[in-house]
Amino acid sequence: MNTAVELNGLLAEARSHAEWIVGIRRTIHEHPELGYEEKQTSATIRARLDELGIPYRWPVAETGVVATIGRGEGPCVALRADIDALPIHEEADVPFRSRTPGKMHACGHDCHTAMLLGAAKMLKARENSLPGVVKLLFQPAEEGGAGGSKMCDEGALEGPDVQRIFGLHVWPQLKTGTIGSRAGTFLASAGSLAIVVRGQGGHAAKPNMAIDPVTSAAKIIVELQTIVSREVDPLEPAVISVTTIHGGEAYNVIPPEVRLTGTIRSLTMSGMEFLQRRVKELVEQTAAANRCSAEVTFPGHDYPPTVNDAYCWEVAQELGRAALGDDAVMQLPPTMGGEDFAYYTNRVPGVFVALGVQNEAIGAVYGVHHPKFKVDEAALPIGAALHTAFALRSLAELGTGAAQTAGTVKV
Ligand code: NI
Repeated sequence: MNTAVELNGLLAEARSHAEWIVGIRRTIHEHPELGYEEKQTSATIRARLDELGIPYRWPVAETGVVATIGRGEGPCVALRADIDALPIHEEADVPFRSRTPGKMHACGHDCHTAMLLGAAKMLKARENSLPGVVKLLFQPAEEGGAGGSKMCDEGALEGPDVQRIFGLHVWPQLKTGTIGSRAGTFLASAGSLAIVVRGQGGHAAKPNMAIDPVTSAAKIIVELQTIVSREVDPLEPAVISVTTIHGGEAYNVIPPEVRLTGTIRSLTMSGMEFLQRRVKELVEQTAAANRCSAEVTFPGHDYPPTVNDAYCWEVAQELGRAALGDDAVMQLPPTMGGEDFAYYTNRVPGVFVALGVQNEAIGAVYGVHHPKFKVDEAALPIGAALHTAFALRSLAELGTGAAQTAGTVKV
């Protein structure tokens, strides 16, 4: 098999579907929905799958969809897209801007969904000769809701059992026509932090009659900076960021409590557990030293690190070079961003790949989660072709037993 020739064919085919893919992306972009509320988005996905004659299971994880292509036998590969938007008010100057004030597809999950539907179309056209089964996972609530975990709990990787998984994320730091990732840990374990510092309110003119939680909160924030700088190996990445402070209503009143929130990140689960333990100890004891009490919680989900299987990344690189050229594949450093694709790669070997969408000529230069975030849509057929190629290549390998899967790297 000449991979370059085959990939050029797939890319040309994906480009012939560009209008269809972009149309879906823009429809979803105009109607952003937050995690587990993606009813209209889910309906759009199901309508396109119905159109293509692709069967699916729904609802999975509330609004998610698991579609299946193949004749029911042979190995099984999964391709994943997340479908939720963010609580951000869009400021991008695009004609298909969000019609819902305060909500926006600022992380490109609209693109992920459209690219996966593009791949669905191409794979369905090959169903009769497909040497196995491709599962398409359209998952809700990537942004903090751990939709990936819920999909796994509801059997998205079973029946037939998924042997390898592939996911793409639009990446504004990379130019259109390039991809990047790395073997091993690519994205961090990420969790949230909430602190309530309790004192005793009173008149600000008589601080000795009150117990001031504001001063204690300030000390706590400063003390927290010493965990990463003094207790963590300088060669081990770690982040503790306090990002909100709320307390008090009046300039002359000491409030009874102050609330803080923030985030904790590490590239390993053991690192995450260490940081959480030390944050709790340090906050409680700093509060106590100042006559306050403190309650520390880690609400929401602690996403595990996203760990790429080395062999799956090799496959993706080969496909990327064949489709886009030898210079188009970047080895990226790990990032402290979190991603719930981690829940899948904790269970089966897989790779999460960054897809370049940067294009200065059209102002597609802003980072994800920015209100002016914009994507170069020329990247969408590339993503659809890579999804398709990864599935075809993996099924062929797994079917012949040729795969040299290195096994999921566990942390
Ligand atoms: Ni995202």
